[in-house]
Amino acid sequence: MTPETTERLRAYVDYLRDLGVYDLYRRGEPRPEFANLLAPVQAPRPVAAAPAVAPARAPASPVRPQVSAPAAPSLSPFAASQQRTNASAPPKPAPPPPPAPLELSPAFAPPDMPLISFNARAELPQHRASPDDKPAALQSIRHHIGDCTRCPLAYAGRRNIVFADGNPNARLMFVGEGPGADEDASGVPFVGKAGQLLNNMINAMGLKREEVYIANIVKCRPPGNRNPEPVEANTCSQFLVEQIDIVQPQFIVALGAIAATYLLGVKKPLVALRGQWHDVRGSQTAVTYHPAYLLRDPSMKGEAWKDLQRVMVAMGLKS
Ligand code: URA
Repeated sequence: MTPETTERLRAYVDYLRDLGVYDLYRRGEPRPEFANLLAPVQAPRPVAAAPAVAPARAPASPVRPQVSAPAAPSLSPFAASQQRTNASAPPKPAPPPPPAPLELSPAFAPPDMPLISFNARAELPQHRASPDDKPAALQSIRHHIGDCTRCPLAYAGRRNIVFADGNPNARLMFVGEGPGADEDASGVPFVGKAGQLLNNMINAMGLKREEVYIANIVKCRPPGNRNPEPVEANTCSQFLVEQIDIVQPQFIVALGAIAATYLLGVKKPLVALRGQWHDVRGSQTAVTYHPAYLLRDPSMKGEAWKDLQRVMVAMGLKS
């Protein structure tokens, strides 16, 4: 797709959303266990049809109207034939009355996107992938995602879907909010500046990046690195739920408020969520600052380190 086409599609999606049309997703494809994740969008109220206007017909007459004056010789052949057509055309039908103004019913209003915790999104699976089967199980999720067009981020200039990185059998998973420019270009999460800081944090914990699993709430880059919108996060979360269920990490670290909000299904300031354990699909989950935030405010690195140390103690990496 050319950048121009992408831009036009994006503008069209924006236009539809300005109209309140949020139901832009593929129908029929989500698996049944995820079918109830999005608020149902009712069918739009039918707009009253404009009264039918019978087309005015020209009186059927075998007598062609006379053209009284010959075409001026200076006219081009096209102009002359146009003039003849006009002269012999039947009277134009009256234009139909303008349609009744489109009444936007509540059904068209943006649905309130409920904040649903990852625990409430789906039952925990009854059967778990064995360690040997986890790579293939994750690969099948990636395959299912395909060249995704389930949410507007597909039309927002995305270059790569950023699925995840790391060890399918990891004990520890990091969850960020969404890819940035470097991740979008490479298809790998946390490879830019924030990623380098995350690597340092992982190493400081005594781990290697290859030992942990890293993913994001949304797999496509939000334009301009804005926060993912609820409709985007809600749409994409089904895949992260599955990834967590397959990897089954003992521990998750939510990086930043956006990741914490969607994982936990609560909208609270980050400080209110730090320093305690949360449950996300059976994984003990800690919340800490996003590395990008720590790059902007390095004075908070000590606080983040406290959060990671708590995780290290629980993991038995530190007494
Ligand atoms: N920030 C994120 O939240 N995720 C990435 O993958 C990169 C930067």
